[in-house]
Amino acid sequence: MIPQSKIEEIIHAAHIEEVVGDYVRLKRRGANLTGLCPFHNEKTPSFSVSPAKGIYKCFGCGKAGNSVNFIMEHDGLGYIEALKSLADRYRIEWPQQENVNIDQEKAIRSEKESLQVLNNWAAEYFEKQLWESEEGKNIGLSYFEERGFREDIIRKFKLGYSIDSWDHLANAAVDMQFNPDLLFKGGLVKQNESGKQYDAYRGRVMFIIHNTQGKVIAFAGRQLKKDDKSAKYVNSPETLLYHKSNELYGLFFAKTAIRQLDFVYLVEGYTDVISMHQAGVENVVASSGTSLTENQIKLLKRHTDNVTVLYDGDAAGIKASLRGIDMLLEQGMNVKVLLFPDGEDPDSYAKKVGSNQFQLFLQQETRDFILFKVKLLLQDAANDPLKKAQVTRDIVESISKIPDGIKRMAFIRECATLLELNEQLLIAELNKSRNGFLSAKEKEWISTEPKEIPHSEELAQILADSPKYEQEHYIIKLLVQHGHKPLEGYKNIAEYILFKIEQDEVQFEHEVMRLFLQEFKNYILQNIEFTTDTFVHHSNPILSSAAASLLVTQHEMSPRWVSKYDVVMDTPEEIMIKDVQSALLYLEKHHLNKLLTQVQNELKEAQEKNLEDDLNLNMEVYKLLKDKQQLISQRIGAVILH
Ligand code: CTP
Ligand code: MN
Repeated sequence: MIPQSKIEEIIHAAHIEEVVGDYVRLKRRGANLTGLCPFHNEKTPSFSVSPAKGIYKCFGCGKAGNSVNFIMEHDGLGYIEALKSLADRYRIEWPQQENVNIDQEKAIRSEKESLQVLNNWAAEYFEKQLWESEEGKNIGLSYFEERGFREDIIRKFKLGYSIDSWDHLANAAVDMQFNPDLLFKGGLVKQNESGKQYDAYRGRVMFIIHNTQGKVIAFAGRQLKKDDKSAKYVNSPETLLYHKSNELYGLFFAKTAIRQLDFVYLVEGYTDVISMHQAGVENVVASSGTSLTENQIKLLKRHTDNVTVLYDGDAAGIKASLRGIDMLLEQGMNVKVLLFPDGEDPDSYAKKVGSNQFQLFLQQETRDFILFKVKLLLQDAANDPLKKAQVTRDIVESISKIPDGIKRMAFIRECATLLELNEQLLIAELNKSRNGFLSAKEKEWISTEPKEIPHSEELAQILADSPKYEQEHYIIKLLVQHGHKPLEGYKNIAEYILFKIEQDEVQFEHEVMRLFLQEFKNYILQNIEFTTDTFVHHSNPILSSAAASLLVTQHEMSPRWVSKYDVVMDTPEEIMIKDVQSALLYLEKHHLNKLLTQVQNELKEAQEKNLEDDLNLNMEVYKLLKDKQQLISQRIGAVILH
């Protein structure tokens, strides 16, 4: 680690107007400087630099940050490399042992880039073999055709074939000057016990794994012969580009549809994804045979809160995966499930019944997860009171994972009916598991484990989406600007705001804003001192550039939801607290409206399908939401008119 004092020395020396001024012609305009943005093409300047705050922001493309962020973005460097480059420019002595770090950072970056080039080449190689070589056409292509994959779909997913030879790929790669070591690291070539090297995917049809941006990050090769004793799939190892537990197969091809339809189908296998596309269902991703991870769920949550899990028709598998679904609930996902007939999976069923029939089936057979789980478990526990008690605990456990209080209540009521139990009893059980759940969450706050930093290209998009998140941005801006200031009865203003957020169970939707909340929690729980600058110069470039972005807004944020009449009477703290209260209320209102629309749709659907339990459940939610909405409206009225 670079000592914090060294980082501060560099930041202090590297005046933003000089750092940016090396690359951009800046003109003074009032307290700020403006120029043409170096990160996107423009004719009129929308790039602004604030020497007083030490930050830049482009109002055109949304890029923002401090001097280190600027160098990272402009020169494509890592965090440490960018610091070093600034240290060099300002002749600040760089700690000797840290050169190791820089070399590491450089080496990693260059290995990543080389791997990417190799993967791109290999993907093309496999595709070419499939379409152009005799072996590829006779064996690979005919395999896909036999399975009923259409040509446009084979091309869309860039499916391929790997020649059945020990070294066909290895030779071609060496001809292309690829480093043999890299072929190992990328998993394209392997070595057996006797030291013989061989093409890892030889004689297999190839599936290409893309990341969210569509880059080729990994491969999977499927065996062709039924009597083959080797693994059905050979998958890429973990590499600098590919962490299996952070990726979902098909997301790149699905993300537009997921956003449009506001839900995603989750399946098991590569072939399920492909067949569903062929059947006209594009909002589908695969977990690739393993249970979902938290990072995969977060990836999905960038696009939707609604997931439908598709199950093969085998009951054992379903019970094994119930736990995994609790994790989806915990992350605030609305979960539905759909069960295929015995022995069928999405791939086989789509082929069997055809597109129209398949789509109809999806629509008709989707069920709410918790109700599905109650019925599934009750089947086994029919007249056995002990088993029924276990089922009850199990169901309540799932319900306790739902972050939204209203939904929890509605499920409790509906499940009380289904389980023929007293509602109060379930509530008591729920409170027991909620307590356990909260303390687990608190432990998570305290943990200082560095959080995965999202990809910066994607982050810029995330930040640009701002109008939808106005209130969240407003609250985080308040936290960054004033959070460290003292407040009676609390450690500081930040503690008060976090306390309110917890108490009201307010949900933040913006991924980066959630990162901020997490970091404030860390500071408060660990008694770490912080100020505005802590965030502007945060060592996580995502936080520093987002802080810069929040601090510089084109129109100074004056929330229109705040009363203008009582300003004279209140102290600045009182005004701020009211601002926070009303911003939180508006967040809740926004959240409620979203839930209401959703429930209305569900109600309609349940009516059409004649599903009594779903209907009751959603009526319950509807009533609770309406009550809460009225309460919030009253409180908003009170804050504004007060
Ligand atoms: N899987 C794997 N390695 C294996 C078996 C399975 O990685 N040896 C993963 C793959 O991602 C696969 C998923 O688990 O897509 C589901 O497995 P399965 O249903 O057996 O494979 P399908 O993709 O459905 O293949 P097919 O339809 O050709 O049987
Ligand atoms: Mn299958």
